[in-house]
Amino acid sequence: MNNFVWQNRTRVYFGDKVVGKHLAELIQEFALPGRKKVLVGYGGGSVMKNGSFADVEAAVKEAGYEMIAWGGIMSNPTVDKMLEGVEQVKANDVGLILAVGGGSTMDCCKAMAVQAAYDGDAWQDFWIEGKPMDFDPLPCGVVVTMPATGSELNPCAVLTNTETNIKCDRGYPKINPLFALMDPAYTMTMPMRQIKAGTFDILSHIMEGYFSDPAGSWATDDMMEGLMHGLIRDFRAAVENPENVEARTSIMWAGSLAENGFPKTGKKLDFQAHNMEHQLSAYTNCNHGEGLAVLHPVYYRHIYKDGLPKFVSFAKEVWRLNPADYESEEELALAGIEALADFIREMGLPTTLRELGITEETDLKEIADSCFISEGAFRKLTHEEILEIYKECF
Ligand code: NZQ
Ligand code: ZN
Repeated sequence: MNNFVWQNRTRVYFGDKVVGKHLAELIQEFALPGRKKVLVGYGGGSVMKNGSFADVEAAVKEAGYEMIAWGGIMSNPTVDKMLEGVEQVKANDVGLILAVGGGSTMDCCKAMAVQAAYDGDAWQDFWIEGKPMDFDPLPCGVVVTMPATGSELNPCAVLTNTETNIKCDRGYPKINPLFALMDPAYTMTMPMRQIKAGTFDILSHIMEGYFSDPAGSWATDDMMEGLMHGLIRDFRAAVENPENVEARTSIMWAGSLAENGFPKTGKKLDFQAHNMEHQLSAYTNCNHGEGLAVLHPVYYRHIYKDGLPKFVSFAKEVWRLNPADYESEEELALAGIEALADFIREMGLPTTLRELGITEETDLKEIADSCFISEGAFRKLTHEEILEIYKECF
């Protein structure tokens, strides 16, 4: 294993009616002293249908604060949208930012909290240049309505700069939300397409940590194997019956467990599939989880020989394939990747870039050349190989 530091400051409240039970007190505890307004950021309106907005509104009132409702945060949020939100924060002397929604809303609000407390250009200095962050962002909490990104429990915020076509995240412990309220009931209005995309994103987050050095066994690998096996079970159950509250609740917590840093401790962390997806999304605005579903099997067919022991374990421990049925470790490893590809088809996720709206006119070479190359992968890809992968996915 590799040396590591693990830190996570987010306080989580998970379960039935946690917003009504805890939000008012959390606002009073965390809002900047002397400021009596809470900015509530949300997306395109799903919060009005799943009950979260009404619960938040009541809690803000109960806390004795004024609510500034700021909606319209789009999927794959842009730097411009983040800056627009910061204007609202400043104009209203806001003491706490509260994100209510999925990963896009949480990321936008987490980034707003940074920019609102910083005089310079946060995108350039932190997201692009990765400078040290020597100040505290504005207090920020989240109410989760969609499991997928794990943003509620992690230090990342992914933004897209539409001028430069760069989509990237940046992780600073100070970006972690101060608190996360997670009531599975809010997720029950999610359309099937988002259930599938979000749950695959969760699986991808686990795989991105799992398929990286050290390739042998290590305690966190054991944890990830268990998480993946359970997530696949819950994914099937949720697709078969989206009203299955137990499966949906389990998926929600799996999303936080997958991407809070803990299951990656001591691992290098790949993230190459994410880097390839982020740039596809920067250029085409495709759906994050769906893009990952298309890319993962093809990417793994390219690199499995470089991390063979881990791909063998994946086949044995996650897909429960019997080694005796295969003539070599390579054959077994490939069968594990095919089991993943079969599962993606079974779940009805897209398997080609064309299904994501990418056409012959899309300049895949330009997108491939813009991808970040992961240092933590079993093998560092070249931009030429990324283009090959895109073409195989087309
Ligand atoms: O906008 P609204 O109306 O709220 O609808 C959203 C949106 O259309 C809808 N939705 C959310 N909760 C719902 C619901 N619809 C009905 N009922 C509910 N309860 O779902 C749609 C997708 O929402 P979005 O927030 O865009 O999805 P997701 O959570 O997948 O977030 C995607 C963004 O997060 C980034 C992605 O790149 C993308 O920009 N990521 C963030 C990460 C992080 N912070 O750690 C890591 C990830 O790898 C990822 O890159
Ligand atoms: Zn992701």
